[in-house]
Amino acid sequence: MIYVDAQASTPIDPRVAAAIEEVYAAELANPHSTHMAGQTAMKYVDDARRTIAQFFGVKFNEVVFTSGATEANNLAIQGVVRKALQSMERVEIITTPIEHSAVLEPIQALKDQYPERVHVRYLSVGESGVVDANELSEVLSDSTVLISVMHANNEIGTIQPIRDIARLIRKWKAEQGSAYPYFHSDGAQAPFFISENLSYGPVDLYSISGHKIYGPKGVGALIVREGTAIQPLFYGGGQEYELRPGTVSPELAHGLKAALDCIQSADHDAIVTEMLTLRNRLLGELLDIPGVLLNGDLESRLPHNINISVDGLSSETAIIQFDLAGVALSAGSACHSGAFEPSHVVEAVAGPDRAKSALRISLSQFTTQKEIDTVIHSSQHILKKLS
Ligand SMILES: Cc1ncc(COP(=O)(O)O)c(C=O)c1O
Repeated sequence: MIYVDAQASTPIDPRVAAAIEEVYAAELANPHSTHMAGQTAMKYVDDARRTIAQFFGVKFNEVVFTSGATEANNLAIQGVVRKALQSMERVEIITTPIEHSAVLEPIQALKDQYPERVHVRYLSVGESGVVDANELSEVLSDSTVLISVMHANNEIGTIQPIRDIARLIRKWKAEQGSAYPYFHSDGAQAPFFISENLSYGPVDLYSISGHKIYGPKGVGALIVREGTAIQPLFYGGGQEYELRPGTVSPELAHGLKAALDCIQSADHDAIVTEMLTLRNRLLGELLDIPGVLLNGDLESRLPHNINISVDGLSSETAIIQFDLAGVALSAGSACHSGAFEPSHVVEAVAGPDRAKSALRISLSQFTTQKEIDTVIHSSQHILKKLS
C-alpha cells in the first residue's frame, strides 16, 4: 500500500519505535510513586518534558502531558473559558472556520452550555485559507478572553501567521493593561516542518500531538505559559501541575521526546527538502489533469500537503477507487465514525461544491519517488474516469 495520508497519522519513525521498546523493556513503575523505582520512571517523563520545553523555547514546568492534541485543545479552550466565566458575565472567543473539530467542537459545546454568556467570532480566511492578522484588531474587545488560531491546517496545509497575531495581541494587551485575551494555537501539524520558538510570546497555549510527528499515538502536550488563568477539566490527582490528573506514561512521553529528537537530527532539513520536491512534482502532474484545482494558498503551505478538488468528482468514490488501486489518501480530516462528510475547511475556502470533490494527499518522510510515480499514474486514470 502507498500511504499518502500522513496528516491523518504519520507512520512511526523506526528510531522512535526502538526508543519506546527500550523503555517498555525496562518495566517501569508508576512515575508518580515516591520509591526509587518510581523515580526511575519519572526520569523518563522529566527528560521528555525537558526536550519539549527546549524544542519550543519554554520552561520545563510549562509542559503538560495529555493524550494528544484533542485533549490539549479541550484543556486550553475549556480550561481558559470556564475559568474566565467565574469572574466575567460575558466572554468572547475568536477563532477561524477552518480549525480542527477538536477546537470548533469544544467552543460550540461552551456556547451551547452558556448561550447568553459565551460568544464566538470567526475570522475570515478567504480563498487562500490564511487569516489576515490585521482583522483581529477590528474584532478584539474587552470581553475577548481567548483567541484560537491553528498553526498549520490539517486539510489544506496552510500556515497561519501566528507571530503576527501574537504581536497584535501583545500590543492590544499593553494598551488595555489587560491579562486577556490569551492566545492558543493548535500546533498538531506544525513541528515537523516549522521550528517555532514560542518564547517571543504571547502564544500562551500551544497543542502538540505525537502521531503527527512520527511519534506514538495517544500522547501529546499542551504548553501553558506561566501565569495563564486556566482550570483543569478532570479531577482525581494532582499530576501535571494540577492541570491534568492521571498517570503520565513514561513510555509514550519518551516516544514523544524521541520524535522531537529526530526532528532535530542532522538529516532533517534534507528530508523536508526531498518531501517538497516530491510534492511539487506530484502537484504539477495533478494540475495538468483537466478540472483539477488546488484548494488553499500554495506559498504559505506545509511542504507535504496537496488538497485538490476535481470538477464533477465525488470524494468518497475517488477514495475507494484509490484504495482499490493501493493508494491510501483522504478527503480531509480523518472522520469521527468512518462516515463520510465533506470537508468544512474546503467548504470555508472554496465553497460546498469544491468540498464534495476534495482530496487530500499528504506525503510522509518515507514516501519514495517510485511511490509518487504510482500515485501520478493512478490519479491520471482515476480522476479522468470519475470526473
Ligand atoms: C490540527 C489538528 N488538531 C488536532 C488533532 C487531534 O489530534 P490527536 O489525534 O492527537 O487528538 C489533529 C489530528 O487530526 C489535527 O490535525
